[in-house]
Amino acid sequence: MDKPEVVLGVSGGIAAYKACELLRRLTESGHDVRVVPTASALHFVGEATWSALSGHPATTEVWESVHEVPHVRIGQSADLVVIAPATADLLAKAAHGLADDLLTNTLLTARCPVVFAPAMHTEMWEHPATQENVATLRRRGAIVIEPAVGRLTGVDTGKGRLPDPGEIFEVCRRVLARGTEALTADLAGRHVVVSAGGTREPLDPVRFLGNRSTGRQGYALARAAVARGARVTLVSANSELPDPAGADVVRAGTAAQLREAVLKAAADADAVVMAAAVADFRPARYAEGKIKKREGQEPEPLALVRNPDILAEISAERARPGQIVVGFAAETDDVLANGRAKLARKGCDLLVVNEVGEHKTFGAETNEAVVLGADGTETPVPYGPKGALADTVWDLVARRLG
Ligand SMILES: Cc1cc2nc3c(=O)[nH]c(=O)nc-3n(C[C@H](O)[C@H](O)[C@H](O)COP(=O)(O)O)c2cc1C
Repeated sequence: MDKPEVVLGVSGGIAAYKACELLRRLTESGHDVRVVPTASALHFVGEATWSALSGHPATTEVWESVHEVPHVRIGQSADLVVIAPATADLLAKAAHGLADDLLTNTLLTARCPVVFAPAMHTEMWEHPATQENVATLRRRGAIVIEPAVGRLTGVDTGKGRLPDPGEIFEVCRRVLARGTEALTADLAGRHVVVSAGGTREPLDPVRFLGNRSTGRQGYALARAAVARGARVTLVSANSELPDPAGADVVRAGTAAQLREAVLKAAADADAVVMAAAVADFRPARYAEGKIKKREGQEPEPLALVRNPDILAEISAERARPGQIVVGFAAETDDVLANGRAKLARKGCDLLVVNEVGEHKTFGAETNEAVVLGADGTETPVPYGPKGALADTVWDLVARRLG
């Protein structure tokens, strides 16, 4: 099979060096990558680096190798164009259809999905001109990844940082996996909330009651939603996974903290997907000091109290009309029957039912599930990567959002 052809556009931002890592990941995972830098980008990373790492010449102007008509051919044959970093200037040119170098010409001739990963100072990002350009590009179907918050050039911090190249690579992978379907970013303009990970209910300053969830399924859902154009809030409970590119990550420790964060984010959300493993119970009493082992004494039995049922609460009190609520049911036995009963009890629109065990689902890269719909539908999802299950969930959500 031919290798998927990827155009990596690099514009003149300080984060251009991070595109080398993205290039490496793309080539090492079997993509044929053509780097198209802008003239400004070459001030940051030279042509030799791009050519050597990609195995192709890296030209900036339309006037080189004219007999091959590169200003048209490169875009026409691409399966994906990703621009990382995308400067404020490049976004403006793309939004207005300028074509004064090879990269901007390529953007006009490409008929494949296009991903922009902007990076710039917060002021440049927040400027109405940039925001309008981003909105224009999104309206036309491009995926524009929200920049991360963190250290910028010099001593500044704020929103505008290029997300981790490994996570931009994950967006590219997800977009390529969707093929031509990715041309319609079906969650563009939507705000979705995803909870992920497992809550920890403290017993004393050093101990907690927790569960085995790593957050992989929720993070896969967040990544998939970004790749489909959504604004994503990821409420993450105790996960050590890297922040997905483009998602706004809110941290939570306990079920109570997760509830507060989800309810806040859900206020203007089109869909809420509760993939986190939330503790049903918490210790009735929190010991201020470490619980000690006493010679000759058995430990006191552990008294537990119920935690609020977040899924039932957001299902019953939808923050906005038409909001879609999705739950997850991790069952160890009688999986489908328990799932159906749970769907009825919780009142959500969709319930993803999967079987869990010590070495099954938790922490794994794969999953197998059935998605039950309140309308009586059943969508089996065969054994496969958690990203594929995530896309099935978003297919069902997008259909319900209309
Ligand atoms: C040191 C330095 C760092 C810069 N970093 C950024 C950046 O991160 N994002 C951005 O939008 N512009 C940045 N600029 C400004 C762009 O390089 C400038 O707008 C340029 O015209 C962009 O050209 P291009 O879009 O054709 O690559 C930076 C400029 C300098 C000198």
